[in-house]
Amino acid sequence: LGPGSTAVAHPNIALIKYWGKRDEQLVIPYVDSLSMTLDVFPTHTTVRLDPEAQTDGVILDGRPAEGEPRRRVVVFLDLVRELAGRTERAAVDTRNAVPTGAGLASSASGFAALAVAATAAYGLDLDPTALSRLARRGSASASRSIFGGFALCHAGRGVGEAADLSSYAEPVPLPDFDPALVVALVNAGPKAVSSRAAMRRTVETSPLYQAWATSSKGDLTDMRAALLRGDLEAVGEIAERNALGMHATMLAARPAVRYLSPATVAVLDGVLQLRKDGVAAYATMDAGPNVKVLCHPEAAPRVAETLLAAAPGCSVLTARRGPGARLRTA
Ligand code: DP6
Repeated sequence: LGPGSTAVAHPNIALIKYWGKRDEQLVIPYVDSLSMTLDVFPTHTTVRLDPEAQTDGVILDGRPAEGEPRRRVVVFLDLVRELAGRTERAAVDTRNAVPTGAGLASSASGFAALAVAATAAYGLDLDPTALSRLARRGSASASRSIFGGFALCHAGRGVGEAADLSSYAEPVPLPDFDPALVVALVNAGPKAVSSRAAMRRTVETSPLYQAWATSSKGDLTDMRAALLRGDLEAVGEIAERNALGMHATMLAARPAVRYLSPATVAVLDGVLQLRKDGVAAYATMDAGPNVKVLCHPEAAPRVAETLLAAAPGCSVLTARRGPGARLRTA
């Protein structure tokens, strides 16, 4: 096999969340979302074509992938092959800087890196919008990691092909807005329920889901205005209410989906204490117990120290805005 194509991508954290699909097959979100791509936890993925092979080879963090993770990669490669009009199988080798499935958005960096590496390996030259649409098929949050800094993912309009064509992310240029995101890792173990299954259950059974989806539209409008003003306090307040609302929809699902642990709540208490002490700090949580705290970069050391004290045993690290997915030249 040749050297193949290697891409690197970073996770992103949504300030306005994506939760729920209106088309599972095409991976079309119900709501628009807006995120910041980070400069930590990269995923490196190499794709080599293997004309002799009968099946795709998928290595995830040094071990052959099995079950659902492997299936998702093969389905994704099938899409790329269809676009390229080619049939060769591929050998995929992907490495995450954090444990996969720990609620740190590794599917976002994973499918963004795979989209870039696989399209290059199969000789496709897609523009960023087409790459973002393709990455969405792997994981909707991956559509945002194609871009660095801030990105808005459109839920798209219509159904079928119209939805597929109109659902993609685009960069939100904010050259002067450069906050810190202090990540409190309270538990790096695998998640109890996959976000895919949890999302489906929430949409199907939570009486709060529609209300959150509707209020999320208003949150996005307010968020865009706050970002344009560079108003970190407003950005943080909106992000925190949007995330807590998303978790409320999950708690109301039947049976409930609960990702937040006692350590999560302890970190949230630390964030409240910081605000009482006059430090602008705002929390957001995804499909796991870890907390990401938005703050001014100067305040990051104090925020990190407070979170560590609030939840002994957690580990913290400060991220900033990071780059979009790109090919690595050998
Ligand atoms: C809570 O993008 O991982 O992190 O499209 O099913 O792969 P699939 O889901 P995924 O969900 C991310 C959900 C979230 C919020 C967000 O990142 O917007």
